[in-house]
Amino acid sequence: MNEYFENKIIKLFSHFINFHINKYLHANEKFPPPNGGGKKLFLYIHVPFCTMFCPYCSFHKFIFSKQRADDYFKYLKLELLHIKSLGCSFERLIIGGGSPLLCEDHLIKTIEFAKSIFSIRHVSCESDPARISTQSVKRLKGLVDRLSVGVQTFDDELLKITNRYDKFGSGLELAEKIRNITGILPITSVDIIFNFPSQTKESLMRDIEMLKKLSPEQASLYPLMVSSITKNSIREKMGAFNAENEKLYFHIIKKELQETYPIKRGWSFMKKQTDLIDEYAADKNEYIGAGAGAFSFLDGRLHINEFSLDNYAKSINRCGSSAAYGKSFSKKSILYYGMLNGLYGGSMKKEEFKGLFCELAALKFIKAVKEKDKMIVTTPFGDYLFMNAMKEFYIGMDKIREKMRLGMSDKL
Ligand SMILES: C[S@@+](CC[C@H](N)C(=O)[O-])C[C@H]1O[C@@H](n2cnc3c(N)ncnc32)[C@H](O)[C@@H]1O
Ligand code: SF4
Repeated sequence: MNEYFENKIIKLFSHFINFHINKYLHANEKFPPPNGGGKKLFLYIHVPFCTMFCPYCSFHKFIFSKQRADDYFKYLKLELLHIKSLGCSFERLIIGGGSPLLCEDHLIKTIEFAKSIFSIRHVSCESDPARISTQSVKRLKGLVDRLSVGVQTFDDELLKITNRYDKFGSGLELAEKIRNITGILPITSVDIIFNFPSQTKESLMRDIEMLKKLSPEQASLYPLMVSSITKNSIREKMGAFNAENEKLYFHIIKKELQETYPIKRGWSFMKKQTDLIDEYAADKNEYIGAGAGAFSFLDGRLHINEFSLDNYAKSINRCGSSAAYGKSFSKKSILYYGMLNGLYGGSMKKEEFKGLFCELAALKFIKAVKEKDKMIVTTPFGDYLFMNAMKEFYIGMDKIREKMRLGMSDKL
């Protein structure tokens, strides 16, 4: 298939995902808080605090203060107890933010607490680079299995325009931090963003070379996501978004990293197979989220927690749960969501396409997938198509975040 048709299909996919996400913007159904029903799900805990806001970031967050964090973790503990009382069990805990390590003592106590009430075997946590030192990471030994650090780029000019140079250090300083902590925990992972507006191919190649030199166990290389929340700040601080480079850069990354990181799942790269991948895309489609602004997806229902810190606290005080809004997915949407997750990861069993045979035939026709040993695997075009589709999905989720933040009194 030629480039022209490939690009048309990619655009069509983006529209398709947007269309589906828009159906969930009016999450106004009321149902009881999600209860695990004996299923093994994963637990996501959101820690929404940062010391500053980066222009490209749309995650739900507030400016850190000790008082806010002290209050927040108190309610979080109550919420975890409530989730436990509903009969949920978890083997995997993912802690995202924000910058969870900002609240190091609270974080450690929360992980210990979650491990004491659930049979959690794997913990993944993220951090900005300011919190990263040999000493702080050693404190996480035995508690955290995977720590992902947001480097974003080693390019000083890009760090400056993203406001991160002064706060988190130069590219060389970031590299030194990663070098010092790699090997302390079972998995160190580095987050890189590619396709910043003014990023050149040479700058990307330097990021890739530095990553290979540091060689942490995992790396996530995210395409820059420009959503309704961030489009203005990205344009003002960084310049116009360039969609054309994205595909080119993605294929360069794939090729350059295949030796160091033979296992790839969407935008995540690994040295060897583990069940700890990236925070964004879950290999199991169902999860429960705790904390302000977290989502849960269970039994075909999307649950959305309170976004404002005040309402979060009030809701936990009132009923133990912060799940405030919801929306049921249609049967077809659930199938599409499963297919997006599966093909983003590169392969699905043929039997998982039950109810999606026309879609499978269409994907084969456009050469996005092919059949191999009873598996449906993505082609190089499909790899990009589904990586881009996942990006569109997360951009779409930002529309929900934007809507939830409307009218909040504590926006910062
Ligand atoms: C929730 S953020 C937390 C990272 C941490 N607070 C930091 O600043 O290093 C997790 C990761 O999401 C990625 N991310 C955030 N905004 C993004 C965007 N607009 N496009 C692509 N990736 C993004 C970044 O790589 C970031 O490290
Ligand atoms: S990238 Fe990290 S530090 Fe920057 S605003 Fe997002 S969560 Fe906060």
